[in-house]
Amino acid sequence: MRVPARGQAGGKVILLGEHVVVYDRPALASGLPLGLAVELRPGPGPAVYGEGGVVVEDARPAAVLERAATLFGLDPAAIVAEVRTQLPPGRGLGSSAALVVAMLRACAAAAGRRVQRDDELALGRQLEAMFHGTPSGIDPAAAALGGCFRFVRGEPPALTPIRLAAALPLVVAFGDRPRSTQATVAAVRERWLADRRGCERLFDAVEALVARGVCALERGDLGALGACFAENQAVLDELGVSTPEIGGLVARARAAGAFGAKLTGGGGGGAVIAVGPDAPALAAALARDGVRAFVVELRSVQPEAG
Ligand code: MEV
Repeated sequence: MRVPARGQAGGKVILLGEHVVVYDRPALASGLPLGLAVELRPGPGPAVYGEGGVVVEDARPAAVLERAATLFGLDPAAIVAEVRTQLPPGRGLGSSAALVVAMLRACAAAAGRRVQRDDELALGRQLEAMFHGTPSGIDPAAAALGGCFRFVRGEPPALTPIRLAAALPLVVAFGDRPRSTQATVAAVRERWLADRRGCERLFDAVEALVARGVCALERGDLGALGACFAENQAVLDELGVSTPEIGGLVARARAAGAFGAKLTGGGGGGAVIAVGPDAPALAAALARDGVRAFVVELRSVQPEAG
């Protein structure tokens, strides 16, 4: 085993189409320029520590380490992992998927190998299922790709990188309450089982928004993208995955000049994304209002290194 071995991966934002992507509809997402790093060392494992050597109480990261190590022919009982993250957990910014992809990369490095992108996508989805039962695979795809893309689930998923007209400045604002993607995915499933026709109509509307969103990104039309955000947020509200806290953040973003804002990820709490004519001014206005907000620049997907 080659140790210490390191792996990194970014978080994600879903720009349009969360939840409907679980039902084979397209969605638009991007990797984030902030993420998570894993370092593997020899030790009694499989064990995962946070920064400063604090044991991670959640058993799932150690289970991910165990599976990832085994996949690369390593002995998980002899490995400990330290995780350093810039991503707040439970806010819909892809911390679980980033952990999974970074762990795969670190285990591959420890085995003297490199994971190909296709394998990252397939294995990432398998391992992410430990965090929520029926993932579409969009979160690990974003962690693996790093830039903006259209996604339709499948084996393999249909991925179309989006060529952005320019780097996309996006405001991310935080709610206070962490939430569980597993719970909101299950709630949407119940609703779909109870009212398939009604839900499929909503899914159709989001599919049309994703097509508009792709054009807006390719043209660099933030106003059009913001309009798509607002319409998608209305559908997410109707699906029951928004909350009063998210609704409040969306309204504050609009009042501060955003073209549009929406929840991102599983919902039920978590983060809100917004676009506006001046992203830093929008983030600053939200911060003055007591909201934690920052600007990220989304980019096109870079070709896989040879
Ligand atoms: C979670 O980030 C996105 C969902 O669509 C679930 C999934 O696609 O796996 C809610």
